[in-house]
Amino acid sequence: MKVIELNGPSLEALRRAERPEPTAARGQVLLRLRAAALNYLDVAVATGAFPVPQFPLIPVADGAGEVVALGEGVEDLAIGDRVVPHFMPNWQGGAITPFSIAAMRGVNLPGSLAEYVAVPATSMLRLPGHLDFMQGATLPVAATTAWNAVRSAALRPGSVVLLLGTGGVSLFALQFAKASGATVILASSSDEKLERARRLGADHLINYRAAPAWDEEVLRLTGGRGADLVVETVGHATWARSLNAAATGGTLFTVGFVTGTGVSIDLLPIIVKGLRIVGNNTGSVADLAEALRAIEAHRIVPVVDRVFDIHEVDGAYAELAAGGRHFGKIAIALP
Ligand SMILES: NC(=O)c1ccc[n+]([C@@H]2O[C@H](COP(=O)([O-])OP(=O)(O)OC[C@H]3O[C@@H](n4cnc5c(N)ncnc54)[C@H](OP(=O)(O)O)[C@@H]3O)[C@@H](O)[C@H]2O)c1
Repeated sequence: MKVIELNGPSLEALRRAERPEPTAARGQVLLRLRAAALNYLDVAVATGAFPVPQFPLIPVADGAGEVVALGEGVEDLAIGDRVVPHFMPNWQGGAITPFSIAAMRGVNLPGSLAEYVAVPATSMLRLPGHLDFMQGATLPVAATTAWNAVRSAALRPGSVVLLLGTGGVSLFALQFAKASGATVILASSSDEKLERARRLGADHLINYRAAPAWDEEVLRLTGGRGADLVVETVGHATWARSLNAAATGGTLFTVGFVTGTGVSIDLLPIIVKGLRIVGNNTGSVADLAEALRAIEAHRIVPVVDRVFDIHEVDGAYAELAAGGRHFGKIAIALP
């Protein structure tokens, strides 16, 4: 079968290759992949920022496709089912454990830039009927993470959520937060993106280039209260201001590091405001299943900004790596 291999920690190291077609072992299904979608994680793998055990590997965590063969013992899926394989197939549900996060598609398991992949049937979720393969491919990492962010703070009508940027996680969080009845404040580098976020339901918009003290703006917009939930997708550049923007008793859900992982912070806001700092590593198959129920019920459509052809895979990576050009997700069509 045709695959794309990543031959080392470099954006220049993506190559077309041939590999033997996998077969579905007991408990597995064989999937014909139809689409892949990039996460910042895939760029981190391809630049060495996220270490992997060995190269070459078939990259890209997220994908969607159809079931073409069933391994022995698989009874709850059928040939032709449209599915998404979860990023962390070991993590069926429950609390995070070393085992649950040990296997990751596109990191130490074959990823989505291939014609076929064999995956455990228990890691597969049916694609909601209103979504195509491109939209479905965006779900595993970003939708699971955004779902867990929104659940971490028990959002209810009147809750205030602060989202940083317009990447994949932030826009899913916007859609889930609005479905929960929360008020959303979103900060982006671009007025054009802010206008697109407004059309998706964002209530208050801040251009963080024009207003570098955006945390003060969050406090002003909330009458001094701050945000009940801050989804921290950015890391180094924003963490200290995120603490300031959080409400007393609020939650800082920290997942991202697009500007780096090192931060220097003042502990006082955490102590005085009794903040909950919640770390997160994607989530389980059960979390994604819950997110998919919400997506189905609220007819949520993932925001696919651009679809690249498989022959333009370098361009797709470059687009995400550039940072700040895309709005939502970048997908790759698989022939
Ligand atoms: N731990 C987990 O569970 C988990 C799961 C998924 C993702 N992540 C991480 O979360 C982060 C976001 O992932 P993603 O896939 O959504 O990334 P992405 O699509 O690449 O989005 C990143 C966005 O960050 C925004 N940004 C950059 N600098 C900013 C700043 N100084 N202030 C505010 N916003 C800024 C930009 O938005 P604008 O262009 O609008 O300014 C950019 O589009 C990544 O670090 C990723 O690895 C972690």
